[in-house]
Order: sequence, then C-alpha cells, then structure tokens
Amino acid sequence: MTDEYCIELAGVEKSFGAQRVLKGVDLPIRRGLTTVIVGESGQGKSVLLKHILGLVRPDAGRVLVGGTDVARIKGRRLKELRTRFGVLFQSAALFDSLSVFENIALPLRERTAMGERQIHDKVAATLGMLDLGGSEDKYPAQLSGGMKKRVGLARALQLDPEILLFDEPTTGLDPVKSREVYQIFHDTQKRLGYTSVIVSHDIPKIFNLADYVALLHDGKIRICATSEEMQRSEDPLVKAFISRVMGNIYVSDIESRLLRDQDDRGRF
Ligand SMILES: Nc1ncnc2c1ncn2[C@@H]1O[C@H](COP(=O)(O)OP(=O)(O)OP(=O)(O)O)[C@@H](O)[C@H]1O
Ligand SMILES: [Mg+2]
Repeated sequence: MTDEYCIELAGVEKSFGAQRVLKGVDLPIRRGLTTVIVGESGQGKSVLLKHILGLVRPDAGRVLVGGTDVARIKGRRLKELRTRFGVLFQSAALFDSLSVFENIALPLRERTAMGERQIHDKVAATLGMLDLGGSEDKYPAQLSGGMKKRVGLARALQLDPEILLFDEPTTGLDPVKSREVYQIFHDTQKRLGYTSVIVSHDIPKIFNLADYVALLHDGKIRICATSEEMQRSEDPLVKAFISRVMGNIYVSDIESRLLRDQDDRGRF
C-alpha cells in the first residue's frame, strides 16, 4: 500500500451462513478524495462499509486502514483506530433530548479533555461552516431533514476525522435537499481534506461529487473509475447499470424547476 491510498480492501470475502455476499472485493481508496460506492440493493455495500470500521470481520482478505489490518486488531487498538473515523449513517441518529449544540458537542465531551470555552468555540465554528448558525438551541424535532443531516455531519466532524464514512446520507430527503446536503459534503471535504467514502443510491447526483465511483456487483468491485470514465465504460454490465439509474428517470416539472433554480445559484 502506498501513501496515495488511505484504505485498501484486498480479496475480501464474507458469507452469512450459506449466502456469499462479498466474493473477493479489491478496492483501493485514495487519500483526501471522495469515493462513492454504488450498486443494487442487497449487493453488500453496507457490509463493505462495516468491514472498514471493523464492525464485521472478513472470512478472507485484508482491510487496511493507514497500513493497519482492521481485521487483525481488536479491543483498545480497534477503538483507537475508530477514532480516526467520522461516521454518518442513514438516520442522522441525533439525540432528541439534546439541543443542536449539545448533540454536536457530545464527541468532544466524551472523548476529549477540552474545557467549556474550547468546546463552545469549536462547535460554533462548525455551526458557521455548515450554515447552522442560530440553530444551536433548537432540538432535533424542530429541524428539517436537511438540517438534521447537517447536524449529523457537524457531529461527525468534531474529532477532526481523517476519514468520513456515510451510508446513504440523504435517505428521506427530497431531491433538492439531497443536492444541498451533497453540495455541503463536497464543500467541507474540499475545505478540510479528509477522505470520504459514501454509499449512495443518488445517481446521477453523486456523479458530480465523486472523485471515484465503485460499482459493487455480485460480490466484487466491477469498476472503480471517475464518473466520466464510468459513463464511457464499454462493460455491458456497467452500461446497463448506468442506463437503468440514469436513463429514464422521471423528474417532475416542479422538481426540474427547483433543480434549475438551484443551478442558477451556482450549485450542481
Ligand atoms: N449481519 C448479517 N447477518 C446476516 N446477513 C446479513 C447481515 N448483514 C447483511 N446481511 C445480508 O447481506 C446482504 C447484503 O446486505 P447489505 O446491507 O450490505 O446490502 P446493501 O448493498 O447495503 O443494500 P441496500 O442498498 O438495500 O442498503 C443482504 O442479503 C443482507 O441480508
Ligand atoms: Mg445498505
């Protein structure tokens, strides 16, 4: 593994009972860039992500994070390794009884020895960066779906992670809100330079965000390429996947108008 890669899966196999889910996954993930994992439902995308976090162990193969094989460590070392990750799963998993400020401050209170002043300054800086200024005293029930995702992202960023893992981060959002969330991911990633790995169904939106797109199919990575390369691929399976997800997408008139307005404001 070279320094160019932050995470590298090699020959990863995983079965649950008689079901072979991963059949030899090879996936190098480049440092400081965004890699999006796509594929049909049930292909094992979430399982793959869980291998990176060491939540699921492979039957065979290696899962290297910064040169350490996650599959071979446990206990304190695994816990330490996990502090390098920020994680945002489908539901933003905010604590309903805590304010926005307290939700975001939680990792700092639990994992650092920072004082109130420092915590306040750090949380305030993130609130500003993610357009959440003025919402710090609200409770999750008072937020829109997109705001909840941004609060989840703010929390995931507090410990300055090297790597952010997102599993379907825009589930439950309307198309315009999804684009906003992806735009914010894109901007914060460029600003902070972390490596991000996103599992998403939101094609074609993620094509604009991804530096690399990896298609998981039948237990293997069928292609890992830039969005443009992927859209030009001659592989019949890749072509079929793309035309299925990009081809005949129904976009309502209202949606296309909203999207056009967004584009006018310089977003993708
Ligand atoms: N802990 C587990 N025990 C048994 N089977 C599991 C377990 N986790 C996942 N599976 C199975 O592995 C397969 C892949 O699941 P996974 O959740 O990774 O799919 P996915 O690609 O993320 O799908 P989706 O796009 O719907 O989220 C599924 O058939 C699922 O039932
Ligand atoms: Mg999944």
